[in-house]
Amino acid sequence: MGRTLVSIDRDSREPVYQQLRKALEHAIATGALDPNRALPSSRELARELGISRNTANTAYQELLAEGFIESRPRRGVFVNPEMVPHMQRQEGGAHGGRDVEWSRHFRGRPDARMPEIAKVTDWHTYPYPFVAGQVDPASFPRLAWTRALRDALEPPHVHYSLRDGIDEDDPMLLEALCREVLPTRGIEVEPDHVLVTLGSQQGLDLLAYTLVTDGDSIGVEDPGYPDARHIFVRAGARIVPYPVDTSGLIPQSSMDDLAMLHVTPSHHSPTNVTLSIGRRKQLLSMADRAELLLVEDDYDSEFRYQGSPTPALKALPGSDRVVYLGTFSKFLAPGLRLGYLVADPELIRELRGQRRYRVRHPSGHTQRAMALFIDGGQYQRTVRRRRTQLQRKWRALREALQEHLPWQVAPPPGGVSIWVDGPAELDGVRLAERALRRGVVIERGDVFFAEPGQHRHHIRLGFAAIGEQSIAPGVARLGETVREVLG
Ligand SMILES: Cc1ncc(COP(=O)(O)O)c(C=O)c1O
Repeated sequence: MGRTLVSIDRDSREPVYQQLRKALEHAIATGALDPNRALPSSRELARELGISRNTANTAYQELLAEGFIESRPRRGVFVNPEMVPHMQRQEGGAHGGRDVEWSRHFRGRPDARMPEIAKVTDWHTYPYPFVAGQVDPASFPRLAWTRALRDALEPPHVHYSLRDGIDEDDPMLLEALCREVLPTRGIEVEPDHVLVTLGSQQGLDLLAYTLVTDGDSIGVEDPGYPDARHIFVRAGARIVPYPVDTSGLIPQSSMDDLAMLHVTPSHHSPTNVTLSIGRRKQLLSMADRAELLLVEDDYDSEFRYQGSPTPALKALPGSDRVVYLGTFSKFLAPGLRLGYLVADPELIRELRGQRRYRVRHPSGHTQRAMALFIDGGQYQRTVRRRRTQLQRKWRALREALQEHLPWQVAPPPGGVSIWVDGPAELDGVRLAERALRRGVVIERGDVFFAEPGQHRHHIRLGFAAIGEQSIAPGVARLGETVREVLG
């Protein structure tokens, strides 16, 4: 909430608590805050805005006293429904929802207090969008994809585009994945080892709901991918964070007690380091000994800019306990929502059953179009083209960071973002807020950690969505903002 609705100007003469109170008052008066959702606690708000807890508390106390918000025992602080604009209440009434307290009916959200990646949704309107997880529309192979979509509606393909597949996937796409895509990662399997997903995220969700029982411990990298933690915790798991160094996740004997371990071996998320071969072997033998399942999240292995890519963990001997997740989000576009999961056929059958009662299957039309796209050689062509483009952007960003930041940055040669460790006194949250005001979108790094409060000096810069020409001037502005924030 804080990022989008509240912006604090530390140079203003107006006290911060008053700025905060006014911003919240305005948000309530304009109906921007959902009266059915608890507001963040003062501690969360303080952390998100980089202000003291006392300041957040004072603002909340004033709003309570004025009746803008109300405190509900054991549930938190809510916008006072009486203060919600009249129009909005009437709309609720027209749909029969005026007096329904929806939040009472919701299942608990066990991940409610965990940090989330703070996305700037209108990033494309900023001149310097160093966002991660997005792509530049100009680099999307629009003509080839349009042709594939059109051909998928012609016989004989149209049947597979339009049918209800129940729990099946498009057989042509499964074939194409096994023949053209997985072998580039060293994985040689038959189609019964593959499930098509709505992206890696759905793969994680299906695994969590199929394999995790309440209270199971799941190991994750720290720092690591926040969305995986949310998915596992929502499925009832307990998260156990494990540290990462320049050779990736550090194997530890306590991992023997885990039910599952989520790893990003090719390019660790978010630092992009590669898991060493020694550690890969350690993890595999540990998995075997302790009956531990390894989830290999191989979300952007296509993008390595020096040397050759390491084969997947799933390609190594003795990797039966590895479930592999791949995605078309990074090399094509995340909006297509298409990925794949590779595992033993018995697990694949179980996951199909789970998927059937959640989403049935990913769109048949998209699956057939992707099969035709791969079959026509477009997959390999697009990967090569994008790798070259991204390599140029990676170099430009690395050089700009070296020139404009007052400390050393030496990123590993892969991935679609650069992780920056600032000096201990850097407040990355404040920097991200200040940079945004100057048109530079970067990500705060604290949310990737299990203990965000202790890791505020990191930031992440994605380079897939920004145009190459904008990289240097954007980083120059960021450098100026860094000097301001460091004082
Ligand atoms: C670690 C990690 N895994 C997976 C993904 C991709 O998820 P999806 O395939 O659901 O788009 C991302 C994207 O941000 C990621 O950072």
